[in-house]
Amino acid sequence: MPPEIPSLLEPETFANGVPHDLFKHLREKSPVHWNPGRPSRERAVGVVEPEQRGFWVLTRHADVSLVSKDSELFSSERGTAINADMRPQDLLMFQQQMIHMDPPRHTRVRASINDFFKPRTIAKLEARTRDLTREILDKVVGRGACDFVSEVSAELPLLVLAELLGVPREERHLLFDWTNRLMGLDDPDYGNPYDAQAALMELFQYAARMANERKENPSDDLMSVLVHAQVEGRELDYMEINMMFFLMVIAGNETTRNALSGGIRALCDFPDQRERLLADRTLIKTAVEEIVRWHSPVMQFRRTATRDTEIAGQAIAENDKVVIYYGSANRDERVFDRADEFDVGRSPNPHLGFGVGNHFCLGANLARAEMRIMLEEILTRIPDFELDGPVEQLHSNFIHGIKRMPIRFTPS
Ligand code: HEM
Repeated sequence: MPPEIPSLLEPETFANGVPHDLFKHLREKSPVHWNPGRPSRERAVGVVEPEQRGFWVLTRHADVSLVSKDSELFSSERGTAINADMRPQDLLMFQQQMIHMDPPRHTRVRASINDFFKPRTIAKLEARTRDLTREILDKVVGRGACDFVSEVSAELPLLVLAELLGVPREERHLLFDWTNRLMGLDDPDYGNPYDAQAALMELFQYAARMANERKENPSDDLMSVLVHAQVEGRELDYMEINMMFFLMVIAGNETTRNALSGGIRALCDFPDQRERLLADRTLIKTAVEEIVRWHSPVMQFRRTATRDTEIAGQAIAENDKVVIYYGSANRDERVFDRADEFDVGRSPNPHLGFGVGNHFCLGANLARAEMRIMLEEILTRIPDFELDGPVEQLHSNFIHGIKRMPIRFTPS
């Protein structure tokens, strides 16, 4: 009997993390699999979620790559979330965000801020990122125990992002709060659909205030770059700036938080790999890539077919939603030897955890630097860390999130 395939639309399917056995089965037996939709439903009093159409589930590395690289046939502009068949006015708003654009507009907008994320620029942040990392660890290393998520992994991306965007350090908790309420709306610990809307409005008001201020007094932060960027012969308008700020806050924050937590968890689960890293620090670079492959903080993104086509022999109709599962592609045994083993020295490692194609993660260099520096400092200061209680997963079909992860270690 084939196993019953649960709906990948439902956050419960991911309650215990990425369902690797299910993905393995799909890669083998049904690599282009149809996931049914869901009728319209009331999410909270007065908040009606529209009907969600079904979608194609792509689980093989080759198919995820193919779809990501062909933005003409598989559009981002028509929506990038599986459970967001949006009202036209909402889609129009999201299309002001780079991640929801197709070329040629996408290429122009990305080019206007690309310099900010180049390896050369990120290298200049190295010393500052290390200072921030040490400051975070200073607060916990003497105690012998902490919640790794709230006290360590959430803090570094927030502090770095706040400085990049130009948000005052003491207001960084706003970024944390908005991200949790917007991305955790399926998790009762964090939010609900009402509150997600309120969080978005707060974020927009904040961004608009900042943009006004930077128009008057430009500085070297990303908000200044955004308000002065010239795209197609004009400056970005307020909605475009708001939506780009929104994208940066979400993309630069929770992803790296979960990569850091997922990495420390993997090193607790595989102490032999931690020993290898302790014995040979040159492996930290490959370890960072392996952590992104292993944990795959972003589980999926969606594309929409712009005309009738086929993928791996399966007919796909125009306007069908096609969802690419990075966490599955990253365990595809057709590409990775010993795909189910965590190997800090893995090379080559053609994982898709940062995506591939023209939407390849703009912040990948920054995320890699934050992860490398944090690993270097942790291995030096608290090398014998281990789990100290249950790891709590975020309730989500999109982010492979860890909400709480108690660890203990010899105080230093
Ligand atoms: C380990 C951490 C991270 C992971 C796993 C990750 C993952 C991803 C993935 C999978 C995409 C591709 C989306 C698609 O193809 O539709 C993406 C895009 C993006 N990421 Fe990241 N990301 C991380 C960190 C960051 C950071 C630190 C920033 C910025 C501060 C950032 C900014 C972006 C932006 C702006 C895009 C959209 C690029 C475009 O549309 O051209 N990300 N990221």
